[in-house]
Amino acid sequence: MPSPIVNPLREGIANRISPEPCTLVIFGATGDLTHRKLIPALYNLAAEGALPPALTIIGFARREKTSEQFRKELEESTRKFSRTPLNEELWAQFASSIIYHQSPFDQAEGYTTLAKQMDEADHNRGTAGNRLYYLAVAPDQFPVILSHLRESGLSTANPGSWARVIVEKPFGKDLKSAQLLNTLVSEVFPECDTYRIDHYLGKETAQNIMVMRFANSIFESLWDSNHISHVQITAVEPLGVEGRAGYYDTSGAMRDMIQNHLLQLLTLTAMEPPTSLSADAIRDEKVKVLRSLRPLRGDDVFNHVVRAQYTAGLINGQPVPGYREADGVPKDSTTETFVALQVNIDNWRWAGVPFFIRTAKRMPKGGTEIAITFKSVPPVLFNRSGEGLDENVLVIRIQPDEGISLRMSAKMPGSSLRIEPVKMDFHYGTSFGKATPEAYERLLLDAMSGDATLFARRDEVEEAWAFVDGIEEAWKTRSDDLAFHTAGSWGPAEAAELAARHGVTWRRM
Ligand code: BG6
Repeated sequence: MPSPIVNPLREGIANRISPEPCTLVIFGATGDLTHRKLIPALYNLAAEGALPPALTIIGFARREKTSEQFRKELEESTRKFSRTPLNEELWAQFASSIIYHQSPFDQAEGYTTLAKQMDEADHNRGTAGNRLYYLAVAPDQFPVILSHLRESGLSTANPGSWARVIVEKPFGKDLKSAQLLNTLVSEVFPECDTYRIDHYLGKETAQNIMVMRFANSIFESLWDSNHISHVQITAVEPLGVEGRAGYYDTSGAMRDMIQNHLLQLLTLTAMEPPTSLSADAIRDEKVKVLRSLRPLRGDDVFNHVVRAQYTAGLINGQPVPGYREADGVPKDSTTETFVALQVNIDNWRWAGVPFFIRTAKRMPKGGTEIAITFKSVPPVLFNRSGEGLDENVLVIRIQPDEGISLRMSAKMPGSSLRIEPVKMDFHYGTSFGKATPEAYERLLLDAMSGDATLFARRDEVEEAWAFVDGIEEAWKTRSDDLAFHTAGSWGPAEAAELAARHGVTWRRM
């Protein structure tokens, strides 16, 4: 079998990934993100030999513990969460680069000792004075950490080296708080050294949207309102709030998923071809899509957006409690766990094409996909009644079972003319014969390489908040529009009605 041609694009959007030696400092190193995502991702990169030859990982956190204890805890969580099985020898080698640094975030001394540890790493391990600071903490800790990094001089790299910061979501809770946060970060790190994580951008198939659109000649010429009737972007999961009620109840699905992940997928789907593959050329085009979103405000919100909350139900035959029964959720919470919205992109390419976006917790199944439905063929020849043929649908499956499929009409074998929908299906796993890496693997490598393409730029984040703020403002004026649906169902009737007004049915995943 011929092996796939390998060219640089196949490795992702950027042409070149060359992570440089550095010290990675994780603030909030005892937290969930470090255990579930960051260390397993770094371990898998180490297992593939993809990490820079000199890397030191310093876990900065408040709790008392030794580096030995810290490594042991990380080993346990990596065993549990790593996408590949833990190899003892590889782990031992990888873990030798991890140090624990105990300190409160608000004490200058902790940063002085951090500086010493980093200097030692430069000297003993060749980390070259490069610093990557990962803020894996709640946003209320950002100001204190950032100001200490600045005051201790750690945010400024020596000539020939770099200092970068990775910021985790939630990046603000509205436009105003996001602007404040952006200003705060910009006083310490320039935009070019600021990496705002949106882990959906690191997912392999999300990166493939651009490759599919711009490395093939057949799609782009059809990618507009002349040929596309509507687009559905969905990210749903069977999980509930999973012990994150404190955060989630003040956020809700709109801030948690739409403002970031789903609007990012929308921009990749709808953007114009960028002038180059540079981070800014791509982000320039993405931000134009956000600026072209028709704002939703006042009564319009209730005509275009459905919010709902799940009640007790069954997932995979197992009973699950309703959202209001979850630990830490107020019994009268009106936080939405389901959102469906219909948006318009008011630009030349997309005028008149409705985009539908949906996200929810406690759905029967989990999955993320972008489905592009093309216009029907004219009502002549095979489609005379106007309703006999299914439209072509191109589905980009972000997860699970990453791939792309195209629904077409074909003649069923036999003497009569019967036309049925069939699918052309591409699966990443089978075509490339290897498992897709976790989003955090790609994103950590990119930050070490100085490639910000897959990170959100300041203006993108702010434009997305400006759009979401209009909806949140309208929601504050009433709560009687909050619908309810049983956990394990596909959402409330109101969402189906929203789509039906455009002659559309939500896809079953
Ligand atoms: C996170 C949200 O950003 O994304 C979670 O805070 C959500 O609520 C998660 O569950 C979904 O990510 P994934 O990669 O599992 O689709």
